[in-house]
Amino acid sequence: MNQDELKQIVGREAVNYIQDGMTVGLGTGSTVKHLVEALGKRVQTENLNIVGVPTSNRTAKRAKELGITIKDIDQVDHIDLTIDGADQIDEHYQGIKGGGIAHLREKIVAINSRKNIWIVDESKLTKQLGSFPLPVEVIPYGSQQLFKKFKKRGYNPKFRMDGDRFILTHSKNYIIDLGLGKIGDPHKLAKNLKDMTGVVEHGLFLDIVNTIIVGHANGTEVIKA
Ligand code: A5P
Repeated sequence: MNQDELKQIVGREAVNYIQDGMTVGLGTGSTVKHLVEALGKRVQTENLNIVGVPTSNRTAKRAKELGITIKDIDQVDHIDLTIDGADQIDEHYQGIKGGGIAHLREKIVAINSRKNIWIVDESKLTKQLGSFPLPVEVIPYGSQQLFKKFKKRGYNPKFRMDGDRFILTHSKNYIIDLGLGKIGDPHKLAKNLKDMTGVVEHGLFLDIVNTIIVGHANGTEVIKA
């Protein structure tokens, strides 16, 4: 199985965790894409009453096309379950997200969900976080100063660019990716980043996930975090 097929099997497996009447947070990315397709099919064939809370415009658009009812996070009373992808997950089930620039909305939806499921292919599992660059969403104003501070701290920062243009997030902010190599203490790093004025949100998702569905060549594995 190639990587996309592994993403497909976990997306299809995760849809079984969604029950009629649920309000479901819908993550972002190429793995969640398969979940949304599978959910669209279930909504149509089983006539389910599901409300989706999308974490990106991409997810919202596809969900709508498939006939899934979509609401903004501030229009719902609660979120029963959120299903999302991840860029890296360590052996303590801490994660890095934001490779697709959506981590601010993803984190807001995740922390307001009763349960969180991550769906990943096996390549996302690692002993220690950090080989995947850590995305940090920053306010454009003063971002060069913040960049210099990251550099001084040895974070190996890099603005996320499209040619010579800064890539903008949903909230019209910039992303600075930190090339940390290894993250020894994710909680300490998360606090340090949060304490820096101009940082909106970093991509460390700590103590958030409840269940991880991993795609292996021989099938799916369900991990209770
Ligand atoms: C989006 O910003 C990310 O947090 C995604 O959830 C993450 O990058 C996983 O993406 P893929 O499913 O495309 O690998």
